[in-house]
Amino acid sequence: MADNFSQPTVQPPGAVFFIFGATGDLARRKLFPAIYSLYREGKLAEDFAVIGVARRPRTDEEFKEDLYRSIEEFCRYKIDDQEHWGRFAQHFSYKSLDINNVDGYHELRELTESVEARFGIPGNRLFYLALAPELFGSVSFNLQKGGMLDTSGWHRLVIEKPFGYDLQSAQKLNEELSQVFKEEEIYRIDHYLGKEMVQNIEVIRFANAFFEPLWNNKHIANVQITLSETVGVEERGGYYDHAGALRDMGQNHMLQMLTMIAMEPPSRLYAEDIRDEKVKVLRSLRPYESVQEVKENVVRGQYIAGEARGKKLPGYREEDKVDPNSNTETYFAAKVFVDNFRWAGVPFYIRTGKRLPVKTTEVVVEFKAMPTNVYLGQKHTLEPNLLVIRVNPMEGIYIKINAKKPGSESQIQPLAMDFCQSCLVGINSPEAYERLIYDAAQGDSTYFTRWDEVAAAWAFVDRIAAAWQQNPSDISTYPAGSWGPKEADELLAKDGFHWWPVNGQEEDNVIWINPN
Ligand code: BG6
Repeated sequence: MADNFSQPTVQPPGAVFFIFGATGDLARRKLFPAIYSLYREGKLAEDFAVIGVARRPRTDEEFKEDLYRSIEEFCRYKIDDQEHWGRFAQHFSYKSLDINNVDGYHELRELTESVEARFGIPGNRLFYLALAPELFGSVSFNLQKGGMLDTSGWHRLVIEKPFGYDLQSAQKLNEELSQVFKEEEIYRIDHYLGKEMVQNIEVIRFANAFFEPLWNNKHIANVQITLSETVGVEERGGYYDHAGALRDMGQNHMLQMLTMIAMEPPSRLYAEDIRDEKVKVLRSLRPYESVQEVKENVVRGQYIAGEARGKKLPGYREEDKVDPNSNTETYFAAKVFVDNFRWAGVPFYIRTGKRLPVKTTEVVVEFKAMPTNVYLGQKHTLEPNLLVIRVNPMEGIYIKINAKKPGSESQIQPLAMDFCQSCLVGINSPEAYERLIYDAAQGDSTYFTRWDEVAAAWAFVDRIAAAWQQNPSDISTYPAGSWGPKEADELLAKDGFHWWPVNGQEEDNVIWINPN
C-alpha cells in the first residue's frame, strides 16, 4: 500500500509508458506534468521511456515541443535547467498510429524494442489509454495481435473513466478487456482515489483511537459528501450531455469516497484486502425499489442562466454542444443508506453539481447530540460536533467542538480546530495523477477500482437512472452560481438536518483555531 506519511523514494522498475491519446487534453494537462514531477523528485530512474501514440503525424521533436509547453503550463514544477530538461526529454518518442489497424502495432513493437535496448528497460510495459472507452477493446486486441504483450517483463493497462454507461455496457467492455488482460493487470483510474486527503481518510480513521469507537450508528447522526464545481461543461458539452452528473461524478468519485468513509478496517494493508472492504460497502448500499423511492431520495437538477461574482452565466441548455431541450442533470443530491451493522439508520447525503458557488470537495461527519444536555438548564443549545475532511482545493481536516466562550462565565461557543495541510505543504503536494502513475508502475492497485467495485456501483446507479428515464422532463432547475435546487435542502430538512457550510464559509459564531 502507498505510504501516506512520507513520500516514497523507491523507484519503480524500469518500464516503457505508452500514452495512447498523446495529443489529447488529459495527456497535456495531467499525464506529462505528472511524469515530469516524478522525474524531478527522483521517483523515476533513467531506465524509463515514454512513447506517445496518436493518429496525428508528429516528429519526435514536435512531440517534445508539445511536452515542453504542457509542462510550462500545467506542471507544479517549472523547467529551470535546460540540461536537466534535455535528459528528461530524451526519454520521449512519438508514434503516429491508426489504433484500429494492427499493422501499425508491429512498427510500434520495433520502436519499443529499440527504446528498451537504449534505456536498459527489462520489457515492462504500461499502456495508458487516454482515449474514448469505445476504443479500449480494439486497442487491447491490437496490442495482443501486434505482439506488444509478448515481453519478458510485465504488462499493465491503465484506463480512464467512464467505464461504461451502465452495468450492461460496463460488463461488455470488461469482457472485451479480460480476453486480453487479467484483472490484476487492469488499473482503472478514479483520480479522486489519488487525492492526498482521500487517501488520508483511511489513516485518520484507522490510526486514531478516538475516532474508531465513535465511527458507527450509535454516535454519528449523518455524513455529508459535497463535490461542488464552479465550472459549467466548458468544451465537454458533447460528452457531458450524454453522461450527466450521476454518471460523471456519482458512479465513481462520490461512491468511492463514500466507501472510504464507510468501509471496515481491512485485515491487512494490501490492495486486495482494502478493495474487499470497499466492495462490501457498495454491495450494502440500499437499492431504491421504485420510481417513487428515487423521487423521495434523489434530487435532480439542471442549471439555468444565473450570475456568479458579478459575471452573467448562461444556462446549461445554451452551452456549446448541448441539446437545447436537454434533460441531462448537472446536479444531483441523494440520501443513501449503507445497510450493515455499523451504519444501519445513518443517512449519507451526497451532492455534486456544476456551476455552484464554490469549487470544493468536503466530507462532513456530524455526530449525534449529547444524551442529556446539562447546559440546557442555562438556556444553551449545543451545536453538534463535526469532523470535516477537506479534500479539494483546500486540504486538511478540522473538528468542531463546543467550549466555554473565553472570558465569559457560562457561554458556550463552537470552536473549530483546523489543521490546514495545504497551508503547510502548498505547491509540494503531489497531484493525484503523480501518485497513480507511480503506483501503477509499482504494481500497487490499492487506489484503482476493481471490476466488482465498478459493477456494484453501476448496479446502484442504474436504478436511479432508470427511474429518471420514466419521466425525463421531471427535473428541477437552479440558477448558475447558486447552491442547487431547493429540494436538496428539503431532503435534509425532512430528517431534521441541514447541509453544513463548506469551503470555509462557516457560520459567524464559530471561533477558528488554526495553528498555521
Ligand atoms: C472528472 C469529471 O472526473 O472530475 C469532471 O469528468 C469533473 O466533470 C472532474 O470536472 C472534477 O475533478 P477535480 O479533481 O477537479 O475535482
